[in-house]
Amino acid sequence: MSANDDLKALIRTIPNFPRPGIQFRDITTLLLDPSGMARTVERMASATQGPIDLIAGIEARGFLFAAALAVPLNAGVLLIRKDGKLPGATIAEDYALEYGQDRIAIHEDALVPGARVMLVDDLIATGGTARAAIRLIRKAGGVVNQAQFLVDLPDLGGADKLRSDGVTVDALVA
Ligand code: PRP
Ligand code: ADE
Repeated sequence: MSANDDLKALIRTIPNFPRPGIQFRDITTLLLDPSGMARTVERMASATQGPIDLIAGIEARGFLFAAALAVPLNAGVLLIRKDGKLPGATIAEDYALEYGQDRIAIHEDALVPGARVMLVDDLIATGGTARAAIRLIRKAGGVVNQAQFLVDLPDLGGADKLRSDGVTVDALVA
């Protein structure tokens, strides 16, 4: 048994969701486990290279991990939302992901210049979503050098693309 196999065992695969040919890695089973989230957050906290001012979480599953991690790290939470959901003035980025296209946004005044931001999401596949989030954070004046994920799908190459953008990438499960 290798490190984090306990977490891997809590994640199931649903074939052909949301489209034929996609192997969907479903973390709802990890969330249902009483200590699944606690173990995930403890390990993400240990891997964090601080200090961090804000944890950026991507709607929707990323919100769960960003909020939980912000508490032990004593950081704020930056919501990266699907476009059209934030009430104030926003900046937005389009992106492609493994099974479609979307647009995410942040409030344009969410970051003080130089704010140290760590990006967190449940999963990285093509990296389209995470790279769009990094572009937004940087456009808004934030500094983002680290990203953490529960799951990496390495065959899709997203983590390597983030590394080429100058971001350290950690994932608990591949
Ligand atoms: C999923 C996942 C990541 C993204 C990864 O989100 O939570 O944010 O896909 O894919 P990529 O690396 O190919 O961009 P999704 O857009 O399905 O949203 P959800 O969290 O609301 O289900
Ligand atoms: N987001 C992008 N690709 C995914 C996959 N295969 N499973 C779960 N979430 C995803």
